[in-house]
Amino acid sequence: MAARLVDGRALAKRHGAALRARVAALPRPPGLAVVRVGDDPASAVYVARKEQRAERLGFHRRNFALPAATAEAELLALVDELNADPAVDGVLVQLPLPPHIDATRVLDRIHPDRDVDGFHPRNLGLLAQGRPRFVPCTPRGVMHLLAEEGVALEGRRAVVIGRSNIVGRPLAMLLEQAHATVTLCHSRTRDLGAVVAEAEVVVAAVGRPGTVRADWIRPGAAVVDVGVNRLPDGRLVGDVEPAAVERAGLLTPVPGGVGPLTISMLMDNTVRAAEAATGLRPW
Ligand code: GUN
Repeated sequence: MAARLVDGRALAKRHGAALRARVAALPRPPGLAVVRVGDDPASAVYVARKEQRAERLGFHRRNFALPAATAEAELLALVDELNADPAVDGVLVQLPLPPHIDATRVLDRIHPDRDVDGFHPRNLGLLAQGRPRFVPCTPRGVMHLLAEEGVALEGRRAVVIGRSNIVGRPLAMLLEQAHATVTLCHSRTRDLGAVVAEAEVVVAAVGRPGTVRADWIRPGAAVVDVGVNRLPDGRLVGDVEPAAVERAGLLTPVPGGVGPLTISMLMDNTVRAAEAATGLRPW
């Protein structure tokens, strides 16, 4: 039987309705600053989507598209300015940054109370200890999607493929905290197929088409495809072979699966920052 395909756009719409009510309860609009450096075409598309969603939700926005030659010191000065701006609750610097800029130094400079990406070591540390504050948006979106779709995690075997600080590593922590038994796989994993074949939940976050072969999937498994890869013919595909739809019980499409929820969680984190900054909820 073919897998149920998750409609990420519909889930994001539903989440947006709940978020509107929280925005309306704030004494002032939530503020989101988005900074992009250089002209990476994929980043331009992602940032435009974030800015558009923030606009639709009535956020106060400060958007910056800086030239590729921007000096690291200039970017750090802008982050300092945004950290101090009372109308800004969340600061996001889009990755990747040009090679002459030390991305770690820039991300570490964002005030942890405004780190709506959840990349600051303080926020990743809090997450590692099981007392999350800002959780990175894609892993949080995956968890939201699994919960909304009623996928059971407790006691189940979950495999995460890819160990980036943005997706795989924090997601493995979240799945473990939801009481799954988690295996985190990566480029040095031996016999990936045998590991995947055991899993009731599979998340692929590598960025390479065909990483997860359809015939590896345990029949009925929930398969979440975080990959976004552009093929030479212009098509967007994930990391999972399309034929996985014939074996999985649930599958997220690319595009229209996880992506819309990543943006939802960025908006949610920003509203959360505004709620805390205005005293509506404790940190
Ligand atoms: N580049 C790709 N994904 C992300 C993300 O979630 N946040 C930021 N800041 N940059 C990214």
